[in-house]
Amino acid sequence: MQGSPDTQAFGLYPEVWGKKEGVRVITCSGEGVGKSTLIDRLFPESLREQIDQHPDPHLPDSDSGLEPQPGSARGESRHRVEAGKHSFIVIETPGHERHLNQVVACASTADVAILLVDASKGVESQARHLSMTFPITGIRHVILAVNKMDLAQWSRPVYDGIVEAYSRFADQLGLTGITCIPVSALTGDNVIEPSVTMDWHRGPTLLQALESIDIAIERARMPFRMPVQSVSHSKGGICGLAGTIVSGQVHAGDSVLVCPANEPSTVERIIAPDSDTESARAGEAVTLVLADSINARRGDVIACAAHPPGHSNQFACHLVWMHEHVLVPERPYLLKIGTCEAGVQITDIKYRLSVDSLEHLAGKTLGLHDIASCNLSLDRQIAFDPGHEIPEMARFILIGRYTQVTMGAGMIDFGLRRASNLTRHTLAVDKPARAAQKNQEACVLWFTGLSGSGKSTAANAVEQRLHALGRHSYVLDGDNLRHGLTKDLGFTEAGRAENVRRIAEVARLFVDAGLIILVSVISPFRDERRMAREMMGDGEFVEVFVDAPLEVCERRDPKGLYKKARAGQIKNFTGIDSAYEPPEHPEIVLETAKRSVQEVADEVIDYLQSRAGIAGRKADRAS
Ligand code: ADX
Repeated sequence: MQGSPDTQAFGLYPEVWGKKEGVRVITCSGEGVGKSTLIDRLFPESLREQIDQHPDPHLPDSDSGLEPQPGSARGESRHRVEAGKHSFIVIETPGHERHLNQVVACASTADVAILLVDASKGVESQARHLSMTFPITGIRHVILAVNKMDLAQWSRPVYDGIVEAYSRFADQLGLTGITCIPVSALTGDNVIEPSVTMDWHRGPTLLQALESIDIAIERARMPFRMPVQSVSHSKGGICGLAGTIVSGQVHAGDSVLVCPANEPSTVERIIAPDSDTESARAGEAVTLVLADSINARRGDVIACAAHPPGHSNQFACHLVWMHEHVLVPERPYLLKIGTCEAGVQITDIKYRLSVDSLEHLAGKTLGLHDIASCNLSLDRQIAFDPGHEIPEMARFILIGRYTQVTMGAGMIDFGLRRASNLTRHTLAVDKPARAAQKNQEACVLWFTGLSGSGKSTAANAVEQRLHALGRHSYVLDGDNLRHGLTKDLGFTEAGRAENVRRIAEVARLFVDAGLIILVSVISPFRDERRMAREMMGDGEFVEVFVDAPLEVCERRDPKGLYKKARAGQIKNFTGIDSAYEPPEHPEIVLETAKRSVQEVADEVIDYLQSRAGIAGRKADRAS
């Protein structure tokens, strides 16, 4: 598609332009419930056109992480169906429980779910598990198709029993807008035409139910929201904000807010793919030119001024965990919502939901396919709407900070007020002032390595040198802190993640005080070390890998702990039955098996002195 000169001036890329799609329908069920037969009946092959590309204009980023891989390799297929004046995208997902992740990914791109159950078996555990993901993925309509009614002798009581059981379950989940239909995929009853045998069913057939759903109108009626995908400036200095409208509509002249800062402005122009337009609505990709020069960035949301979204950095949410590696609440992850990305920590797992009874279960971590109610804390304010109002403004994924792998998906239920009741005070004496008074630049030397690798010894020697040079320093030693600040923590992955988080917070305060901090802590996981790095300013975090082979550490065994760990008396011992992830790009590597303590200390001091300011210049060392 060629853009108009204006669109080119704003540097828009053709892929930004969304394509209007039909209603997106996901079909899901357990195995052997008759999904393929039903789809063949509902949308005969002659109407179907296989599509490979992910057709979702709601997930504006192609790298949103939840995007399923194209096609059949993972047992999922997508078809475009043109049926009269209606058009559908039909997404078939694999039946087995182990594919729940894929169902979640597909459902996040769908408007309607057809949940198929077997009349002779009722609502089984898998159908319940699938249903539990619907509120998280933003599915708007659920059609419960009770299949194989022929095998159940077309029995109304059997059907009514299933509907009642499912309705009770759905009520507890807060699922609304459910349509129930008794069908037989085999005979075609109530699929396209009303069943003569089941004339007691007063509701629509499956096709009628689908055709009555007008997603475009539903979305256009909601308040206007457009997450900003890119910001561009024309030569004249006019600023264009490009993105896909996820809800509502916008007209030239509308009053809008750029959120979360809530900066007011007016829409001066709307640039569509081919030319200017007077209005645009949900599903369309446009560039908005505002009347005021506003410092907007990717991830902001343009919203109608009359019904603005909320903003917060703390949320209550529901999420489904999608990774074999457990969720560690104390661990930093990344959260992607719309076009916005932020650092996130799960501050509280309130409860896990039992698949059978929806009972609230206690849990400190989440395993694969667990669904839970949690609180989140982000490292920045974002604009959002509660999931039950505008799912596209509430739906997020969680990504491993280090691995960049999608690990969970969730939906914001509401913002937590305590976030907006807290403010930061700006203090007149700041970090540079405090550091300058000490004639140094503050930084953290983060010594990481196996137990017995020599972290504390190295830190101690370096601090002695710094002290002699007149530098102001402090050592935070993992072992020592475990007698006080972190004495409540154990050595599980979660315990260690929290240990490092707390120590990094303290280190940050000390850096703010203008000191040179030496942290000596195993800190075995890259995620937490990266978090610590990101908490400090540019160049303030110096990762020192104290690199001694496990055999050497075990031979040294200064505290006799390796011996105990080998004898099974200590569990989760680093290097034995708990992992150590070596740094990939440490600023300094100290090979303590090959160097003396003095040499090791020299290496660190040399490094610092090569960076003017941090520990004074070389000449200082001689003096
Ligand atoms: S960390 O993994 O959470 O960063 P930290 O550095 O605070 O560990 O504490 C490690 C010290 O605790 C070790 O030097 C050792 O003396 C002691 N320790 C006790 N149990 C363990 C264990 N299971 N794994 C590692 N160190 C342990």
